[in-house]
Amino acid sequence: MDKIIITGGPQLRGEIPISGAKNAVLPLMAASILTDKPITLQNVPKLSDITLMSELLSHHGVHVTRDFSAQTCTLHAASITDTVAPYEIVSKMRASIVVLGPLLARCGEAVVSLPGGCAIGTRPVNMHIDGLRSLGADIYIENGYIHAKTSGLVGATIVLPFATVTGTENILMAAVYARGTTVIKNAAKEPEVCDLANCLVSMGAQIGGIGTDTLVIDGGTRLGGTTHFVVPDRIEAATYAIAGAITHGDVVLKNVVYDDLLAFWQPLERAGVVIERMEPQAANAHASYEDVRVSMSAEIKGVDVMTEPHPGFPTDAQAQFMALMTLCNGAAMITETIFENRFMHVPELCRMCADITTHNASVLVRGVNHLTGATVMATDLRASVSLVLAGLAAKGETTVQRVYHIDRGYERIEEKLRTCGAEIERVQGGSTAL
Ligand code: EPU
Repeated sequence: MDKIIITGGPQLRGEIPISGAKNAVLPLMAASILTDKPITLQNVPKLSDITLMSELLSHHGVHVTRDFSAQTCTLHAASITDTVAPYEIVSKMRASIVVLGPLLARCGEAVVSLPGGCAIGTRPVNMHIDGLRSLGADIYIENGYIHAKTSGLVGATIVLPFATVTGTENILMAAVYARGTTVIKNAAKEPEVCDLANCLVSMGAQIGGIGTDTLVIDGGTRLGGTTHFVVPDRIEAATYAIAGAITHGDVVLKNVVYDDLLAFWQPLERAGVVIERMEPQAANAHASYEDVRVSMSAEIKGVDVMTEPHPGFPTDAQAQFMALMTLCNGAAMITETIFENRFMHVPELCRMCADITTHNASVLVRGVNHLTGATVMATDLRASVSLVLAGLAAKGETTVQRVYHIDRGYERIEEKLRTCGAEIERVQGGSTAL
């Protein structure tokens, strides 16, 4: 198993290109099931989760072609040859659940393994199932699989009890082939959901209310192919913003959508970090993308945050923000409201001399003078990367084990950080004792 070794201390300075968003690419790839015409995604990062989704879609009969140098992925579902999403793949990546809606819509049936819990929570998919049932699907669970069937979906009004991200995506993708109008109330409005909706529109779907919590879908139009440029990864941008801040550095995040991170920039500024929107550059990957400069020369102030669905503070940036707060002057209360078990980084940060007390869904972080390097590991993507951030600022050497979690969502992380002066290296095939 690979590990990442960091010698903390250097202040990061330089430019960090932000890749396309993993959580946008995965449902966009699944949307290819909805059409027999090819769709081409641009700005697709090289991540293990995307490889897994390619594997799953190939299993369904989708022809997937990736060009890593051009960062494109072309998917062609001329015909769907298998409507079963097997446990062997779904258990490796929960986001596989997003094939349920498109398979059902295109083929009238789908058998998808229940993903089961994961390190950050139980993560049921009851709202996906209830939403699809509202569209007329017959669904039952047997032997760990969701069995869904329909002789034709029909539009309905669905009120989601919670603005579930992949639940909204699944229902949306099914609704584009439901007869009549579907209204999804309390829909998730994360930028990745909007990106999917915009892509579906470019394929011919009729979707109103994109970016709001009410999506209105006039279903039934046969979808065609498209070429779509994936939105930048706001969580990757947030992560590198903290890398700049925690090292008292000065980094420019290239190609971001500033407005997608408003609830993140505000507490970062209150912590003393200077955030500067830069003039749009002709060289930006997309006309609406900009560069954001993040610099820090003051002491880090303690700031309380609470995670919320978008546009609130993102749960996917909670662990990284906590890493920054470990070094604040004062204290910070961090409350996690989305997942019930998303503090796995806490004991590892404490092994690096952080002072953190957990109480139910909140932690109290008392700032310490410095962190010290240690061998650490975590069992999910964002927890793991928070340890890398802590390692960048810690005294001495930090070894982060189980790097495969990071490879699910961060493309070329060592290279991007090293370019800005970090002392970081990946050691391949290290100890597997963990
Ligand atoms: N929930 C239910 N029932 C459902 C669906 C969700 O109870 O049917 C609960 C979940 O257990 C959780 C909350 O609702 O407590 C929110 O879950 P949501 O469905 O919104 O999460 P998700 O769609 O499974 C996506 C991202 C996550 C991100 C969350 C929240 C993808 C592929 N994954 O997950 O990303 O944390 O939304 O924003 O889009 C990550 O990238 O590290 C990651 C975990």
